[in-house]
Amino acid sequence: MSNQKPTPPQVSGALPVLGHVLEFRKSRETIFARGYAEHGEVFSYKLATQNVAVLGGTKNQRIFFSETDQALNMQESYRFLQAMFEDALFLAPHDEYLKQRPMVMELFKRQKMLDYLNIMQVEVQKMLDRWGASGEIEFTQEMDLLVQEVAGYCFLGAEIHEQIGREFWDSYRVLSAALDPVLPPNLPLPKFRKRDQAKAKMSAILKPMIATRRQNPDQYDDLLQHLVSYSMEHVEGSTDDSVLNLLLALMFAGHETTAGQGAWAVIQLLQNPDYLALVQAEIDAHTTAGEMFDHRAMAKLTHTAWAVRETERMRPSADILMRTVHEELDLGEYVVPKGWMAQVSADIAHNLPGVWTDADKYDPLRYAPDRAEDKQDRYSMIGFGGGMHKCTGMNFANNEMIIIITKLFQQFEVELVTQNPGIERGLGANRPDKTVLRYKRKR
Ligand code: HEM
Repeated sequence: MSNQKPTPPQVSGALPVLGHVLEFRKSRETIFARGYAEHGEVFSYKLATQNVAVLGGTKNQRIFFSETDQALNMQESYRFLQAMFEDALFLAPHDEYLKQRPMVMELFKRQKMLDYLNIMQVEVQKMLDRWGASGEIEFTQEMDLLVQEVAGYCFLGAEIHEQIGREFWDSYRVLSAALDPVLPPNLPLPKFRKRDQAKAKMSAILKPMIATRRQNPDQYDDLLQHLVSYSMEHVEGSTDDSVLNLLLALMFAGHETTAGQGAWAVIQLLQNPDYLALVQAEIDAHTTAGEMFDHRAMAKLTHTAWAVRETERMRPSADILMRTVHEELDLGEYVVPKGWMAQVSADIAHNLPGVWTDADKYDPLRYAPDRAEDKQDRYSMIGFGGGMHKCTGMNFANNEMIIIITKLFQQFEVELVTQNPGIERGLGANRPDKTVLRYKRKR
């Protein structure tokens, strides 16, 4: 029955042989915008020979997130990450993934999260102290550096973070620049060669530390020790390489994404002074400059949390999520055959007219309890994914962004020198392009 249904209609603009590859590389958002305008919520495009179905609309987004890994496979669709992280996390076969997952969940237990809130505040304060009394700063880059410091101290611990130095973090940008969902990852191209060199550098820095921890498990109490001990005990065939890959994959998933969305959260507040006034009022009411605040004070920063959520909707760091179709998918009107890829697009999901009022408008009050637009459907907001693979670091990232906003506006008058930054889209994460802020310390 289902095989008589058509496959999703193809968006215009496909070139012979290449399909939509060139457009995907240059401005993938235009494929999604045109597809939605031409065909509505479900359509397809082609990356060379690969058919890709885009599943828009709450019903189809639900299918995307609630199908099993067997039917809609994550491992295969992100194969291009395997050249960097091999079988880490969702890049591993499903049963292996299930063994690795508890290791990651452990990092976000309540007591650890409370410790992280303190580390985040210390690191944000160090950054602000470096700024001096007044000046200008390129904020996108500054957020990168900050988020690396926070991730380093929270996940690696002071000892390792201070040992690995800048070279380690700079290597991530080389890895990101080499992400390519189309080309075979081992072609002899300069970007792939640089990727392999960067990975070798990171490996040379971390492998001796992993070996030390494997030999002396009682001497350390940090993430690396946790990963080494856990994998020795629970993961059959665990090696120093598998621990290294897991660690690198975690840091990869967590840092550029948070830096991009964090930068946008501040930029969007500065672009919307009326709403910033509400945020400023609650920051002044519930926190004091120079003093640490705890999770109870943070829970009172509701307008700030809604601002962070509105940035997730309008400027998501991860705008497309992908799966490989292993079992034919019936969408009602269409079928997506085995062997296709399936994608959801945040640009579509976060602008659906039936879900969001005036979707183009920055309006964080849409999350206030009397409107709660995001609560109408579980899969309407997808900036952190959904279902079984929903982002493990979501609370961590949201808390970090709230702390950045709080401490910045608590202590500084800030304005945008770059009024309307553009979106720099990457396959690791999106971020604003260069954005200069002017700041002056409050008395
Ligand atoms: C604003 C910051 C972040 C954004 C926008 C983001 C986004 C996402 C998204 C969209 C997914 C789902 C991918 C998919 O279904 O295809 C995901 C998964 C994941 N994220 Fe995040 N993330 C952020 C921060 C973090 C942080 C700080 C960490 C931890 C250090 C982290 C760790 C992970 C992990 C481990 C997964 C895989 C979950 C699984 O498959 O079980 N993320 N993230």
